[in-house]
Amino acid sequence: MPVLSLGYLRLNVESVNQWKPFAGDFMGMMPVEGPLPNSLHYRIDHYPPRLVVTESTTSGLEAVGFEVLDRSDLRELVARVEATGTETHPGTAEECAVRQVSGFAAFDDPSGNRVELFYGPVLSHRPLELPHVSGFVTGDQGMGHVILNVVDTESAYEFYVGVLGFTERNSLKLPGGISYFLGCNARQHTLGLNPAEGPALMHFMLETSELDDLGKALDRAHDLEIPMMQSLGKHTNDQMLSFYSYSPEGHATEIGWGGIRIEGSTPTYRITEGAVWGHRYTPPPADAKGLPR
Ligand SMILES: [Fe+2]
Repeated sequence: MPVLSLGYLRLNVESVNQWKPFAGDFMGMMPVEGPLPNSLHYRIDHYPPRLVVTESTTSGLEAVGFEVLDRSDLRELVARVEATGTETHPGTAEECAVRQVSGFAAFDDPSGNRVELFYGPVLSHRPLELPHVSGFVTGDQGMGHVILNVVDTESAYEFYVGVLGFTERNSLKLPGGISYFLGCNARQHTLGLNPAEGPALMHFMLETSELDDLGKALDRAHDLEIPMMQSLGKHTNDQMLSFYSYSPEGHATEIGWGGIRIEGSTPTYRITEGAVWGHRYTPPPADAKGLPR
């Protein structure tokens, strides 16, 4: 069985202090204690922290975690990855404890983005405390979606679709190549492949439960002076209402509401516009690292 959903994101950042207001006060995630030093851990549901940011001298994407069904599926998918000549690393007991999962394996995609396949998340039964957000849409749709920069979208496509079992939901022709939007559950896309120099995280998206959550996030962006990257708009593919902000690291974060669910298999298609309306772009602030320090 292919990958089930986006499970977690691990980011290396220049300063965790800049992420505290961003991830908690602005994005509305719940800060929790975690096992890693110099790190922030955030829950958005009963899963282990979906976002972990760690202070590091080299900032960037540490790993994208995708959930698989169980130990047997992990073994099967790792064998498929190794059959491509890709080296894989089984997670040690200590590394599993850090991630709060029962088992995982790590490897690099063809562009060098670190991927971790895991099973058996260790669940929290403590109620969520989300003062800013009524809830996030997760469950069978996972944490949200990520868009990764890939140097060669065709080899990335072969890897994620041909090996890991993602489905092409739609594509978009860009000046630099073709961007692919891939699904693995009812979320229209869980993974986007963006033709660009990489490896890097282009953006990640969290979907809120209510329209008012999205509106209040816009208010918080204004109040906290979070730099806006793309104004409120509606996407042509997942029909999501959303806006994009610059993270403290300068990459984009999307907060959305109202994405459609894709049930069963549907034919892929190519879009010619990213947005039905809105999503007007603003360049990075002069201090490209984003938030006020
Ligand atoms: Fe997105």
